[in-house]
Amino acid sequence: METTDLLKIASEHGSPIYVYNSEKMISQYKRLQNAFQKVKHLRLHYAVKALSNISVLKLFNSLGSALDTVSIQEVKLGIKAGVPAQKIIYTPNGVSVEELEEAVKLGVQINIDNLIILEQFGTKHPKVPVCIRINPHVMAGGNTNISVGHIDSKFGISIHQMPHILRIVENTGMHINGIHMHTGSDILDIEVFLHAAEILFDAAENFKDLEFLDFGSGFKVPYHENDIETNVEELGEKLSKRFNEFCKSYGRDLTLAFEPGKFLVSEAGFFLAKVNVVKQTTSTVFAHIDSGFNHLIRPMFYGSKHEIENISNPNAKKRFYSVVGYICETDTFANNKMITEINEGDILAFKNAGAYCFSMASNYNSRYRPAEVLWYNGEAHLIRKRETFEDLIHNQIEISLETNVVESV
Ligand SMILES: Cc1ncc(COP(=O)(O)O)c(C=O)c1O
Repeated sequence: METTDLLKIASEHGSPIYVYNSEKMISQYKRLQNAFQKVKHLRLHYAVKALSNISVLKLFNSLGSALDTVSIQEVKLGIKAGVPAQKIIYTPNGVSVEELEEAVKLGVQINIDNLIILEQFGTKHPKVPVCIRINPHVMAGGNTNISVGHIDSKFGISIHQMPHILRIVENTGMHINGIHMHTGSDILDIEVFLHAAEILFDAAENFKDLEFLDFGSGFKVPYHENDIETNVEELGEKLSKRFNEFCKSYGRDLTLAFEPGKFLVSEAGFFLAKVNVVKQTTSTVFAHIDSGFNHLIRPMFYGSKHEIENISNPNAKKRFYSVVGYICETDTFANNKMITEINEGDILAFKNAGAYCFSMASNYNSRYRPAEVLWYNGEAHLIRKRETFEDLIHNQIEISLETNVVESV
């Protein structure tokens, strides 16, 4: 997929628009598979939350990927995309018992992350195999919003509560078939990950009928040239060796599972937005795009930095710009960044826009959510239409109100 293809997509389908390169998704999937080729049974669950378009789910299904889901709606999307329920792990956090029951009916792998639910669930469904999400209390992840394994985190059952887990399992006679952890996103230090893995191995020793160990995800991807990324090859080498040793001592070949989201789709995505206004002020030059944090919230939510390129004018001289949106609050995508000269009407491409971008988009300011395009087999395929005014009011109910205006004299 070339820059000219991106420009053509923007001119054909309008802006703002998300474009995903399936070739990059496929190569990232294979890279991870290769890194863990020494493991006999590897299962990669694509994390639906990162980018949940059904065509993307179908793409991963075609590669043989399993899915990681966190809501019943993600489960239903996965099943609709053709993924067998047994290949879907469902890891909710603080959901209602009714939602869990629905997941049981759909036949997905349940992953439980709190003691009360574990007890209730085991009492009601002792025969349904359950995975347990452990919190190893290892601090990993890019920032506090995406670091979830630490002591104050709401996720998982504390490793220190293992005696309680074992008591519940014994009392209910429930079947634990997997142990899970997810320490957070953007893990830089492989040693930290391996340390958390040791805690998982120790935890696993307590259960005799395991089928898999799920190490979650958190692989960091590069956001700019020379940026650091998780060395998945090195991690693959080290963790595979340790995992194989563990299987030997456990007495059975288990499945090693991961749940990558960002690693598989982040770099595949581009967000294209048009510059509506170039505004010179006394302090900077603002490039106002036809979008805002309603479509791409990561820079404001996580402080994430998406590289921005002016693909309409890539060879011009670079100048300083602050790229901002049209929202009625501060929505700064980039502050005084060097970008090739911007004119009104130019298309700016935001990189790393595959993961947690469209899936976090909203209708704030009553704007339409953008269209999405998948670049597949050398062609652009529209995989989501831009919303319309009808979509905005579709579920709204207008009630009749009495007119109660007091005429002023
Ligand atoms: C339980 C779980 N698994 C997998 C993921 C995917 O993480 P990443 O996108 O960093 O690969 C997340 C992300 O929040 C998660 O909470």
